[in-house]
Amino acid sequence: MAQNILIADDTAAIREVLREALTDEGYEVAEASTGEEVLAAFNGSDEVRPDLVLMDIRMPSKDGLEVLRALRSAGDSDLPIIVMTAFGSASTAIEAMKLGAFDYIAKPFELEEVTVAIERFFERRDLSDRVVRLIAESTRDEILIGDSPAMQEIYKIVGRVARSDATVLVSGETGTGKELVATVLHRNSTYAAGPLIKVNCAALPETLLESELFGHEKGAFTGAVAQRKGRFELANKGTIFLDEVGELTLSTQKKLLRVLQEREFERVGGTTTIKVDTRVVAATNKDLPREIEAGNFREDLYYRLNVIAMELPPLRERHTDIPLLVEHFLHKHRYGRTSAPARISQEAMSRLLTHDWPGNVRELENTIERAVVMARGGIIAEDNITFPGQEARRSVDVTQAIGDGTTLADFLEDMESRLLREALRQAGGNQAVAAGLINIDPADFRARLKRTEADDSGV
Ligand SMILES: Nc1ncnc2c1ncn2[C@@H]1O[C@H](COP(=O)(O)OP(=O)(O)OP(=O)(O)O)[C@@H](O)[C@H]1O
Ligand SMILES: [Mg+2]
Repeated sequence: MAQNILIADDTAAIREVLREALTDEGYEVAEASTGEEVLAAFNGSDEVRPDLVLMDIRMPSKDGLEVLRALRSAGDSDLPIIVMTAFGSASTAIEAMKLGAFDYIAKPFELEEVTVAIERFFERRDLSDRVVRLIAESTRDEILIGDSPAMQEIYKIVGRVARSDATVLVSGETGTGKELVATVLHRNSTYAAGPLIKVNCAALPETLLESELFGHEKGAFTGAVAQRKGRFELANKGTIFLDEVGELTLSTQKKLLRVLQEREFERVGGTTTIKVDTRVVAATNKDLPREIEAGNFREDLYYRLNVIAMELPPLRERHTDIPLLVEHFLHKHRYGRTSAPARISQEAMSRLLTHDWPGNVRELENTIERAVVMARGGIIAEDNITFPGQEARRSVDVTQAIGDGTTLADFLEDMESRLLREALRQAGGNQAVAAGLINIDPADFRARLKRTEADDSGV
């Protein structure tokens, strides 16, 4: 169905030119010559309401700004209106945007500027409609976004394995959505009625981890004052998510192998054999075949885990997913709880499209969240898009830091965050390599990165 555009201008010649051009482009066109008529079009029935209005600011009987104010006070904050302003009246244009206009065009204009602005409007509206639909369709807020061929492949696998109880190994760089995929997999599986239990294998030392996974009997070790159920037991009839499975020690790997083979185990310090029916999903950002060669990972365990392999592609290999992801995060991270989603300028979008995203979707999400705050929920400009990797190249101004009253802790944390990100950038997103560059342990690197990112996103 053709889109319906209302041209509102008091100069008949301008309406004429626009009508001709837009009809040629395949739009349905209606005309108005006063602000009152524009308001009437919005107050009419759904069938006659325009999909988009091209509106002159200077019109008799309610000018453009009055129209915008009236519509806004009626509750619409995101208006399908592109305003046309006289050349040089930047303040009016800004005012119009603040009042919720989608874009503005300065007169006199080239017709192409108009058609490009219109196409941008409809593209944005389609993305927004899709995100709103996706949010409505999903019962929870865990939605996988992206329709690049690589992501479609992931959806297919999720669909296929959901009905089985096969073990799944999700691999991919940091921030590519491994945990999110595991969650979506669980929610769509035959185990969905049961719990989803997550264990981060890198977070605990070996002995604590074993008791965490398998539980312990009273008195099994100092401090085991009571019997405790392990994560595997708790995950019975549900899913257990073993995050960072590449960090397991060889001895824990052996115990895990037995659970995967026999579906049974004993609590630490116990003799009773416990049987569980649990779907296992493991995740890693390590290259496990390489870890096997290095003698750090058991080959037999690898094959047990890797029954179904899901390799999440890095974001730099699926740039076509960026606009939809951006739209999703604009909906997710609003400036105020009741604010409309912020909007993004074309320049800012180009910047996002050309970045190489070492931190993948998590980095994109953090970037958008930061930009929304910087733009105060309005229109995100190019300047509002900042990448930590670039900050790392900035020199350190100690004098200014002291002048600003920066604390030592904040200063060091800022430096740490920049160093980690720069290392990650230089390592092409590979955390293990990045950790090597600054001579720390990969698990330590990951933990630090997560912590600094969490601090950053809480601006
Ligand atoms: N396809 C996607 N659609 C929507 N959101 C996504 C997508 N992929 C990742 N995210 C979001 O990005 C963030 C990071 O994702 P997640 O924690 O699943 O990554 P990860 O691969 O487990 O990273 P790490 O290896 O660092 O643990 C989350 O907020 C998640 O919701
Ligand atoms: Mg994760």
